[in-house]
Amino acid sequence: MEPKDRNLEWKDIWIKKGLNKNIAPLLADGYDLLTADEYDCMVFQVTRPIGLIGNENILECGCGAGAFLASLLKVYPTLKISGVDYSPTLLEKARGYLNGDFFVADMTDLGFLEKDTYDHTLSFGTLLYLSSEEAASQAISEMMRITRPGGMVYIGEIPDAAKRGEAESIRKASHQSVKKISSANPDHLYLPKEFFKNFARATSMDLRIIDHTEFDLGNYQAARYRYSVYLTIKRK
Ligand SMILES: C[S@@+](CC[C@H](N)C(=O)[O-])C[C@H]1O[C@@H](n2cnc3c(N)ncnc32)[C@H](O)[C@@H]1O
Repeated sequence: MEPKDRNLEWKDIWIKKGLNKNIAPLLADGYDLLTADEYDCMVFQVTRPIGLIGNENILECGCGAGAFLASLLKVYPTLKISGVDYSPTLLEKARGYLNGDFFVADMTDLGFLEKDTYDHTLSFGTLLYLSSEEAASQAISEMMRITRPGGMVYIGEIPDAAKRGEAESIRKASHQSVKKISSANPDHLYLPKEFFKNFARATSMDLRIIDHTEFDLGNYQAARYRYSVYLTIKRK
């Protein structure tokens, strides 16, 4: 039997989510355990280290229905936003209420976007659905390629491989009441911090890692085992 491809199994789920006409972007994007205010507060805190001014041209990889971009726009209303997602149904929702360019594509292959196009590229709560460390490296390399020198590649909500055991029991308890929309039950990609340290070393990027326990994310259980990574592209 062929091994299951985690990212393809998730793709079916993300397409199904977007088919629900009445669902709010936050729920369509899978945030069942946060209120809109809590989510806004999380987005504000995790993006602060990027040092946004407000007029930048940014791309979010795995933007879904646009909850993250919509939150960012509340703080920085003049950002120029774009998004990539492999779920056309979720992207359709984002296009319905956000002004920006939205592309249906797999974040591991952004060949249709030119080098140095964006001031910053971001990916929040998405890397965990990829199939392997190799796919994650491909996605980050693509983000790096299309980000201008001096800009940042920001990746958030990465499950920490060092906390996997703890994370799985936290998730089991916190997700008991969350309704499943598929019988498939794909797991997440957990990444060790060493993976990013090696990546930054190999590509000569500056790296900052922040555990989500360092932010004030209230009772959000996933914050106990997730972290954010800020990679700065050196100026030429
Ligand atoms: C938890 S949602 C997060 C959405 C958004 N970043 C937010 O925070 O509101 C994860 C998103 O990643 C997208 N995704 C997963 N794998 C992807 C891939 N290989 N290429 C593009 N998008 C992907 C899913 O379709 C989904 O929209």
